[in-house]
Formats: sequence, C-alpha cells, structure tokens
Amino acid sequence: MTRRFPALPALLALSFLSAPALARNCAVTIEATDMMAFDLKTIRVPGDCAQLRVTLKHVGRMPAAAMGHNWVLAETRHHRELGLAGGRMKIGDAYLPRGDARVIAHTPVIGGGQSAEVVFPTSRLRKGGDYTFFCSFPGHWNMMKGRLVFE
Ligand code: CO
Repeated sequence: MTRRFPALPALLALSFLSAPALARNCAVTIEATDMMAFDLKTIRVPGDCAQLRVTLKHVGRMPAAAMGHNWVLAETRHHRELGLAGGRMKIGDAYLPRGDARVIAHTPVIGGGQSAEVVFPTSRLRKGGDYTFFCSFPGHWNMMKGRLVFE
C-alpha cells in the first residue's frame, strides 16, 4: 500500500529531529501535602533539557515549623545520609549540611499555601544516573521521595 502522506508518527518524529540543537529549558511542578507526601513518584527529564525548573507547591495548611517541605535532589546513594544529616540542621539551611556537594539542587523549606522553586543546569546530571528527590525536613526523607530520571 502506498501512502500519499507520511503517517502522523513520522511527522512528529521529523519535527522532533529537526531541532536537536535547540536545548530546552524544562519545568516541572510538584505538590506536597499535610499528609507528608509528594504527588509525584517519578520525574522524567528529557535529555534535551538544558536546565530544569522545579516548582514546589505546598498545598496543605500546616506551617513550615510543623510540616515543612522542600525538594532536594541527590544521587540515590547519598539521599539516606543527607536525609539523616538534615535532621540535625536548621530550617534556614533547608535542613541540609551547608555547601554539601552531594546536594545537586534544593528549594528552601516552605509551609502550607507557599511555593518555592529552584533552577539548575542538567549538566549536573548524567544520563542514566540514579537520582532521588526527597524532602529533608526532619523525619520526612524516607516517606517523601521519588526518582528523577534524566533520559
Ligand atoms: Co516534608
């Protein structure tokens, strides 16, 4: 059978391939609740994203001192130690050790009704690397976490 026009998937593929050099600025929004949970378990970052903007929205009502949340990104192998260390840090330091190179990116800690964001270059990521995002508020790291995949 002969086609007069390329099939739709082929057109989409062509338009995608025609702009490979145009690195994108990508964005994702993630919500956190008073139930100590994120609404995403996985964040997929396309490989042509030059940078990623992460917007964290705390959609609960509790104050930061009681149910604070942030969004922290690290290699999965570091996330447990960072989470434990965070429990000994201050809210003003986003419950993270100051200047810790294991932290790839993080937002400040926010309370209910607030939002925060962080923008970072994907040059901090390796394709196929194993990354975990989590909240470093004391005691939250093991509940509030998910995977980030750089594709
Ligand atoms: Co939290």
